[in-house]
Amino acid sequence: MLPFAPAAERNKDAIRDVLGPHLAERRRLLEIGSGTGQHAVHMTGALPHLLWQCSDLADAVPGIAARLDAEGNDRTPPPLALDVAAPPWPVPEAGAPDAFDAIFTANTLHIMSFAHVEQFFERIGEALARPGILAVYGPMKYGGDFTTQSNADFDAQLRARDPQSGIRDFEVLDDLAYGQGLTLAADNAMPANNRLLVWHRGAS
Ligand SMILES: C[S@@+](CC[C@H](N)C(=O)[O-])C[C@H]1O[C@@H](n2cnc3c(N)ncnc32)[C@H](O)[C@@H]1O
Repeated sequence: MLPFAPAAERNKDAIRDVLGPHLAERRRLLEIGSGTGQHAVHMTGALPHLLWQCSDLADAVPGIAARLDAEGNDRTPPPLALDVAAPPWPVPEAGAPDAFDAIFTANTLHIMSFAHVEQFFERIGEALARPGILAVYGPMKYGGDFTTQSNADFDAQLRARDPQSGIRDFEVLDDLAYGQGLTLAADNAMPANNRLLVWHRGAS
């Protein structure tokens, strides 16, 4: 049986509709923490010009590979084993001709420790082509506050399971992105109290 995430099934159309236009000029996307591969299949079905490279921790790779074997296409290459906290990432450097010009991650930054979130942004500085975009989907805090009580409850559940995890502050993520030369281009409200943040990296 293929791995399946109900949340990915619920959010995939909204992500396609909001993220799709930002990917019109992009050609090679790296996804961090692909989970089940559902987003890769859905997005490459909608965006026929885009290569979508899945990646995740090694334990998740066989399940993603099974989904891509069953439902993928010639723009969903085999998933990479990639731990954001284990440099160097097994991807081309930013200046390479085949560097990724888009990086996407959904519902991962509140699962990782904050130290890993910092490493995520540092590695993106090394890997994201110019021009390029970074897109991050998930729940966020603003001004230190949760946007809803349900997000506050979710954060408490996350921290009870793993004290290092938790919903991140938009402003902190934006600072980390800025530190890698990325400028916020869009902050979209998404279903179920999530956000889709998009940063741009200029051509040089
Ligand atoms: C809640 S799941 C989200 C999966 C998928 N993106 C989705 O939206 O359905 C979180 C994912 O983050 C991945 N993850 C956690 N820590 C990671 C790390 N250090 N490096 C890469 N991926 C990580 C997990 O393996 C898992 O696939």
